[in-house]
Amino acid sequence: MITAPVSRRVSNLLLAASCAVLSACGGVGYPLEHYEAVYSKAALETPAPDPATLERQTPQQQVRIAHGRYLVQITGCAACHTDGALVGEPDPRRELAGSHLGIAYTNPMRGGFPGVAYPANLTPDPAMGLGNWTDAQIAAAIRTGSLNGEPGHLVVMSWPLYQRMTDDDVAAVVAYLRTIPAIANAVPPRVPPGTRAGTSYVYFGVFRSGPAITR
Ligand code: HEC
Repeated sequence: MITAPVSRRVSNLLLAASCAVLSACGGVGYPLEHYEAVYSKAALETPAPDPATLERQTPQQQVRIAHGRYLVQITGCAACHTDGALVGEPDPRRELAGSHLGIAYTNPMRGGFPGVAYPANLTPDPAMGLGNWTDAQIAAAIRTGSLNGEPGHLVVMSWPLYQRMTDDDVAAVVAYLRTIPAIANAVPPRVPPGTRAGTSYVYFGVFRSGPAITR
């Protein structure tokens, strides 16, 4: 768990337009000049179920909800889906209610503006969260990255890690998400590559080097 306080804020993670091509960066040669290091909060507390909603459930369903909460905690959903968590400053009033800080899904260091996706609002809010999604739709999003019925459409979201979640476990996650307080919080729509995002964003990159890499 990350315990060190993170005081630096992300002011602007965008590559400046003049630096869109790395060789145009005035010979500085350091491709991360317009970036700063931030530390996400991976292991976060999860919001407690709404007591009134919980009370209406059968004892068996309450056990399932508690299991779902545990799973959401250990799979790190809140590390992306809570405002500020990606940079180590989670907003406790917006747990699992989506992130205004985006995640680049194309490599911004190649030049040009990357595509940016925003972790969605997972609370039961009917307009801005999952209130109108069916259980099957939520389960498919978690295990197959399905958006609007088409698998593989959720970018960045770590659904490949969750592919083997059992039916019981995914049902428990869904049951838990249905009991947390609804928060009306709209996250920005996905920004396509080549368009300047109106928000800050982070980029997770794993970079490989070696003889086979030509560029
Ligand atoms: C690495 C960051 C990350 C993690 C961890 C993560 N998600 Fe996501 N999730 C996203 C992003 C980003 C989107 C929106 C993707 C897009 O628009 O392509 C998303 C979308 C979703 C959606 C679709 C909702 C909608 O309105 O589009 C659901 C449901 C979802 N996530 C549930 C979960 C659950 C449950 C977990 C934990 C088991 C989880 N996510 C973990 C980043 C993440």
